[in-house]
Amino acid sequence: MNDDIQKVLYSEAKIQDTCVELGKQLTKDYQGKTPLVVCILKGAVPFMSDVIKRMNIYMDLDFIDVSSYKGGTVSTGEVELVKDLDSDVKDRDVLFIDDIIDTGRTLDYLKKLLKNRGAKSVKVCTLMDKPEARKVDTVQADYVGFDVPNEFLVGYGLDYQGKYRNLPYVGVLKPEVYKA
Ligand code: PRP
Ligand code: MG
Repeated sequence: MNDDIQKVLYSEAKIQDTCVELGKQLTKDYQGKTPLVVCILKGAVPFMSDVIKRMNIYMDLDFIDVSSYKGGTVSTGEVELVKDLDSDVKDRDVLFIDDIIDTGRTLDYLKKLLKNRGAKSVKVCTLMDKPEARKVDTVQADYVGFDVPNEFLVGYGLDYQGKYRNLPYVGVLKPEVYKA
């Protein structure tokens, strides 16, 4: 699998350092609160797992899954709920964790959904933000690890046709992998 990677953009060590930094900031900002941390399946799993270990506060954890009808590498725009939360979000401080914000459609949909259900606050922590790809200008993350270039990335949660999520770093695939 490693042989399919052309270049590493964010190494394992760099990602871990970023998780420590984000964890410190989140610990400070959520001091005295018990947020409901919501992991957006499936891409956010590795990042969620690392960042919550760096948050020294009480929290609850839940999972949600949406589909945005992505055939290959391009988003079609529609978002649909695939797996709902188990928790009631009314009056909760919700912190979404995602791996990347691209068009912004996933988070636009999810933030509206939880605000409509009466969440007290809704914030977003993403490892990567791709501002050049944004289609919904109003969506911004409150906590960002890296601003990333407009390239197709894999690893650390990000997939190509379901694969590469388990790479411990983020990189770019060799062109021949797409053609194969
Ligand atoms: C990816 C990524 C984000 C979302 C960002 O998830 O993990 O959740 O796309 O794109 P957007 O800003 O254009 O909405 P995807 O829907 O591909 O599902 P996955 O997490 O299961 O890979
Ligand atoms: Mg996702």
